[in-house]
Amino acid sequence: MRRKVIAGNWKMNMLPNETIQFIEDLAPLVKDTEHEVILCVPYTDLFYALLTAQNTNIKIGAQNMHFAESGAYTGEVSGKMLKSINVEYVIIGHSERRQYFNETDETVNKKVKAAFEYALKPIVCVGETLEQREAGKVEEIITNQTKLALDGLTNEQVENTIIAYEPIWAIGTGKTATKEDANDAVKAIRKKIAEIYGQNVADGVIIQYGGSVKSSNAKELFSMSDIDGALVGGASLKADEFSKIVEFEK
Ligand code: PGA
Repeated sequence: MRRKVIAGNWKMNMLPNETIQFIEDLAPLVKDTEHEVILCVPYTDLFYALLTAQNTNIKIGAQNMHFAESGAYTGEVSGKMLKSINVEYVIIGHSERRQYFNETDETVNKKVKAAFEYALKPIVCVGETLEQREAGKVEEIITNQTKLALDGLTNEQVENTIIAYEPIWAIGTGKTATKEDANDAVKAIRKKIAEIYGQNVADGVIIQYGGSVKSSNAKELFSMSDIDGALVGGASLKADEFSKIVEFEK
């Protein structure tokens, strides 16, 4: 049985004092969960989040990283830097980064490889646009993005990658994919991983759904055969609401 992983993606929100308060509020609400809880916070909140989350079951991630170790890349942060303060996870290839910051399948792959070099666990995002969905290309687009993102990784690295299937039209729009559509897409990703890395690897990989997940739809999504939790944007900004997604069975 795969575990469920519920990760918050705060995007460009929350200041350090709000981060500390949030984690202090969230920790008691999720302390007994059997699911994995991750908060991916802005760089400026990382240190505060890590300190506040010590001695809790909340894990901390970044939202991006550069693939180089160091150098003349003004404004960028490397995997080595993230690791040096004990960050555990990093989101790579979020659609907002692909859309607004020229992230490509190639840079996503470089970043995933660099994440493993520094023992960071990547959460790799894939997903189709509405246009691609309407053209019947969902499976083609997301399996290709997955294949390119994971290219050159070992089986063990693939097993330690979290994939987030996030249809772009569902992000921040309040429009969630139906649980059947989301599950079919996640299954297609798992099948592609099985083709390349074998069924054992595919059976173990955590594949989340993301796109307008909230406490009122988490349970139905997470009850599907292949959906192993969620990457949550808007609904991860309130501790109470986020805790209800983590504790979706209650
Ligand atoms: P949303 O964002 O939950 O606000 O739709 C999800 C994401 O972008 O990861």
